[in-house]
Formats: sequence, structure tokens, C-alpha cells
Amino acid sequence: MQIAIDGPASAGKSTIAKRVAKELGFIYCDTGAMYRTVTYMAIKDQLGFGDEAAIMQHLANMTIRFEPGDPEQRVLMNDEDVTLAIREPDVTNNVSQVSALPKVRTELVKRQRDIAASSNIVMDGRDIGTTVLPNAEVKIYMVASVAERAKRRYKENIQKGIETPLATLEQEIAERDRKDSHRAVSPLRQASDAIRIDTTSMTIDEVVERILSLIGQVK
Ligand code: C5P
Repeated sequence: MQIAIDGPASAGKSTIAKRVAKELGFIYCDTGAMYRTVTYMAIKDQLGFGDEAAIMQHLANMTIRFEPGDPEQRVLMNDEDVTLAIREPDVTNNVSQVSALPKVRTELVKRQRDIAASSNIVMDGRDIGTTVLPNAEVKIYMVASVAERAKRRYKENIQKGIETPLATLEQEIAERDRKDSHRAVSPLRQASDAIRIDTTSMTIDEVVERILSLIGQVK
């Protein structure tokens, strides 16, 4: 079974997707972490964010792994643990440029489908319902107001020791939405058969319950 969860930045997708996967005993795949890892690699290897040829060459020799069932959801780039590094503002503010590169998308979509082929899965991202898993049994499109999303990201950042003013986060989130929705290849948009959930005034438990009940209807 495949569950696709898409939506704009900081709408709560990964928190919810992780919980839903745990409840169902499915694996969870955070596709945003994969685009972030490629962006981190570009920074580390001093490649231009628009240099598709160089990025593709480095990506060919690079593995991105999640340990299935790892409660900490660590992300490994080759053997380097990049879990925290890929959440740094440097990566966050440049990932939309890297994720707009068509060849990078083709390669990561292929890797995402390979991961999905092995198990029941909850996958979250921007193009899961439209492109990566178009036959997913349940598709969710999760949204929330920009103000609410910035507030959530702010709290998350503080816990990680990252301090960015709320107003800056609002601007960054709006800008990332704009770039992700306007790129040429697989832009962020709701699949025609996705169910839209506005989480602005919902608790995490409420959203999880709603999705589990939708899954229960098709199981
Ligand atoms: O989900 P997260 O905010 O970590 O994603 C980081 C970025 O990765 C997004 O802003 C988007 O540019 C890109 N992304 C994408 N397609 C996906 C998942 C993420 O283009 N399926």
C-alpha cells in the first residue's frame, strides 16, 4: 500500500507522515531530505546550485540512505550522518534551486520509486501524488497558513538551536512555496484525486486520526 502526502513547506507533513507510518507499521520516506542532501553535497563540494552536469556527476557516486525503522530517522550521505546538517538555513534557502534541476529530479524520483517498491510506504514531498507514486491508494494534500507554518518552524528551530526571526521565516517559507510551485518540472500542486487537509487549526493527533480514517476506508 502507498500513502502520498504532499504540500508546501512546513505544513506538518513529516511529523504526520512519521506518525501514520508508525501506527500502520509502514516505512516512511522523507523525499525532501533527499533533495536537501543533494544541496548539502553541492555546498560541501563547492558546486554551483545551477550546475546540473557537476551535480549529476557527484550524485552518481553518492548514496542517500535512511535506516529503515530508525527512530531518529537519520539520513546518511554515503557514510556521513547528515541528519542535522541538511536542516541548516544554508541548505533550506538553496534547496529549491537544486530541486528544480530536471536531471536531479529524474534521478531522485527513480530512487524514491525503488524505495517504495520494497514495502508498504508513507512518502512525503511535493510531487508524490502527481509524479512519484501516481497510483498511491491514498493521497493527501496538506496545507496551513504561512503565519502558522512559520510559527511551527520557529519552534522546531529553537529546539535544534537554530535562531531565525519569525518574520524572516515567514518570508523564506513564502519564497520557497513560490519557487516550488512555479518550477517547470513537477511543480508543487494538488493531485486531482488528493484530499486536501488544512491543518492550520488542527492538532497533530487530529490530523493523524483523519488520515488513518481515510486509509481505513480504502484498506
Ligand atoms: O519537505 P522539505 O521542506 O524538507 O523539502 C525541501 C525542498 O525539497 C522543497 O522546498 C522542494 O524544493 C524540494 N522537494 C521537491 N520535491 C519533493 C520533496 C522536496 O522538490 N518531493
